[in-house]
Amino acid sequence: MLEGRVAVITGASGQIGAQVARSFAHSGASLVLADVHPRIDQMPANAIYRQTDVTNARAVADLMQTAERELGRLDILVNVAGVLSLGSAAALAEDEWDRVLDINLKGTFLCCQSAIRVMQKNRYGRIINLGSIVGKNGGNARPWLDRAEQTKAANVAYGVSKAGVHIMTVFLAREVAADNITVNAVAPGPIASSMTTDFPEALRTLIPVGRMGQATDVANACLFLASEQSSFITGEILDVNGGMWGD
Ligand SMILES: NC(=O)c1ccc[n+]([C@@H]2O[C@H](COP(=O)([O-])OP(=O)(O)OC[C@H]3O[C@@H](n4cnc5c(N)ncnc54)[C@H](O)[C@@H]3O)[C@@H](O)[C@H]2O)c1
Repeated sequence: MLEGRVAVITGASGQIGAQVARSFAHSGASLVLADVHPRIDQMPANAIYRQTDVTNARAVADLMQTAERELGRLDILVNVAGVLSLGSAAALAEDEWDRVLDINLKGTFLCCQSAIRVMQKNRYGRIINLGSIVGKNGGNARPWLDRAEQTKAANVAYGVSKAGVHIMTVFLAREVAADNITVNAVAPGPIASSMTTDFPEALRTLIPVGRMGQATDVANACLFLASEQSSFITGEILDVNGGMWGD
C-alpha cells in the first residue's frame, strides 16, 4: 500500500505512534521516526530515529530534511506527538495552558509547515494530524463520576488544542490542495493506551461498539489517509470512536 513512500512519524515512542510506525513499515514505507524521548522500543527494521522536540522549529525543519537527505524524499507526515492535560478550568495554571497548546497545536503546525515546504517541491504529500473526539464534543460526558471526579477529569486545554488541530487541518488542506498534498486528521475516541489507563471502566458502556479503541484502529485510519486510495479526501476530520460521537 505504501511501497516506495517515505514517511515521518512524530510521537513514535508512544502507543499510537509506535503502532502507526509498525503498520506503515508493514505496508512498505521507509520511516523517519521522531519523539522527544531519546529512545524508541522495538523500532521497525531500517527505520531512522531522530530525537526531536516538535515545539522547536529548527529541530523540526532538520527532521523533515533528514527524510529528504537520507531517504531521497518525503511523502507522508503523521503528527502523533501530543500530551494530555487534566484538571478543572478554575485550577488550570497559565503555564500548563501554554505547554499543552505549544506541543499539541504549535508543534503540529511547525511539523506541517516544514513538511509542506519539502512536499511542495515534489508536488506530492499526505499529512495526517492526530485530533481527538474531545476537540469536537467539548469533553466526554462522564455521568458515572461525582462532581469532584468530573472536575478532576476535565481537559479544556487539551480539547481546545485538538479543536485547533482540526480547523488548522482544514485551512492547510485548502491552501495546499493544488500542490497535490492532502491534509486530514484522525479524531480518536478513547484508545487503550497510557493516556487512558486512569479512565474508569464505565467509560466502555458509553462506546456503542462496546470496547475501547485500540492503537491499530487509529493506525488503520492513518494508513488509509496516507495511501493513494484517499487522493480525493482532504480537510476531513475522521472519527475513530466506536460510534461515541458523530458530526
Ligand atoms: N490515547 C487516546 O485515547 C487518544 C485519544 C485521542 C487522541 N489521542 C492523541 O493521539 C496521540 C498519541 O497518543 P498516545 O495515546 O499514543 O499517547 P502517548 O503518550 O503514548 O504518546 C505521545 C507521544 O508524544 C511524545 N511527545 C510529547 N511531547 C512531545 C514533543 N514536544 N515533541 C515530540 N514528541 C513529543 C511523547 O513522548 C509520547 O511518546 C496524541 O496526540 C493524543 O493526543 C489519543
